[in-house]
Amino acid sequence: AATASTTPAAGSMSLDDAILASFMPESRHNPYPAYDVLREAGPFVPGPFNLQIVSRYGEADAILQDSGWSHAQEPEFLHPKSDGTDLPASFLWMEPPDHTRLRRLVSKAFTARGLESLRGRVKEVATEVVDSVIKAGEVDVVEELAYPLPLTMIAEMIGVPREDHDSVRAMSAGIARGLDPDTLLTDEELQSRYDGAAHFRDYFERLVAERRAHPKDDLITALAQVEAEGDRLTTGEMIATLTVLLVAGHETTVNLLANGVLSLTRNPDQFEVLKRDPDLALAAVDELMRYDGPSHATTRMAVRDMEISGHAFKEGDGVLILLAAANRDSRVYENPNRLDLTRYARSKTIPRHLGFGVGLHYCIGAPLVRLEMECMLRELARRAPVMTLLADPPPYRPNIVVRGIAELPVRFEAPA
Ligand code: HEM
Repeated sequence: AATASTTPAAGSMSLDDAILASFMPESRHNPYPAYDVLREAGPFVPGPFNLQIVSRYGEADAILQDSGWSHAQEPEFLHPKSDGTDLPASFLWMEPPDHTRLRRLVSKAFTARGLESLRGRVKEVATEVVDSVIKAGEVDVVEELAYPLPLTMIAEMIGVPREDHDSVRAMSAGIARGLDPDTLLTDEELQSRYDGAAHFRDYFERLVAERRAHPKDDLITALAQVEAEGDRLTTGEMIATLTVLLVAGHETTVNLLANGVLSLTRNPDQFEVLKRDPDLALAAVDELMRYDGPSHATTRMAVRDMEISGHAFKEGDGVLILLAAANRDSRVYENPNRLDLTRYARSKTIPRHLGFGVGLHYCIGAPLVRLEMECMLRELARRAPVMTLLADPPPYRPNIVVRGIAELPVRFEAPA
């Protein structure tokens, strides 16, 4: 019954209900049946904000890789209440040549090879975290297991001191919620976004000044040096870059870790598979990303007229791409609603999931996420706790773009 609650049949849900259910807070715990209806309705379904909803893998993949589509206009049409200083316009919302220039400045720090030197530290934190939840017994997984690892790692890479982790976390949550369309946010939520952005602007200005005086081996120092060298980076761009790395660097991974534990408790047979073969951990990360990744939606705007799958788009038309729906497209994946941790290990030809996007804006943090999630899964497999879900479904945050569990009560017991 627990497994069924993640994947009920789409049943007789109408298309209008499915469109609503894809975005409403009440269905955050399980938008997948609604996604099934959207995918079957066609490659493009008229959705909110004058956007065509894309839920099939083929069209999502093609649009994300096509330079005929831009991500630069998202702030204009989904965030009209932004004055351009909140939700700072990082390279996530730019196109070449600015996108290329800014992404290149930080990409070296996030390559899989570069990150190998951090493996020891990631393992150390993962071990501490799993130790402490087993000792505690009953915990909120979001708080005790999911937050500490990604927050510690991205903060240490960037150069955010330990004593600031709590404030960083609080401010980041406001920004992550603020990624959803402005019309869906309450005044309070909008205010948290403004506050978060203002906080990081002041905060990073202060840290940059400190690093200029006392350089360290961290990203703040590296970017401060580039800015000081001349015309490759403005102060505003530097702050936007640090903010996006810090916020995207943990808000999303926290949700992947929590979703991962939820999936393993609901599918104990799959946890057994992992315990028997911990070397599956890396392939399991991709399956957990495909099955229930945290990044559900993104948008693109056509920069010229074109036709895709029989639909004529005009320059300026927008699409809302449901990455999490594409990841469960049966045209591409066998038994897409089934969690199968061996899926990616069995075959190298299974199409990659779209949970990290694809193309120009492919998630720069993906290798870091893989390392963190792999180490956490290995540690869980090694300690093999008995994990019992104490609320099913757990409560979810209302967020659409970065979807996540609000609280995940689980009992951890050492194996008999
Ligand atoms: C881009 C998902 C973790 C930094 C993206 C995109 C997705 C995504 C879907 C592409 C958005 C688009 O094309 O519209 C995720 C998920 C994560 C995760 C699901 C965790 C499970 C991280 C981490 C970092 C990060 C750890 C920081 C180190 C970024 C940045 C971009 C990005 C800077 C913009 C890249 C560009 O525009 O070139 N992420 N991300 N993400 N992500 Fe992540």
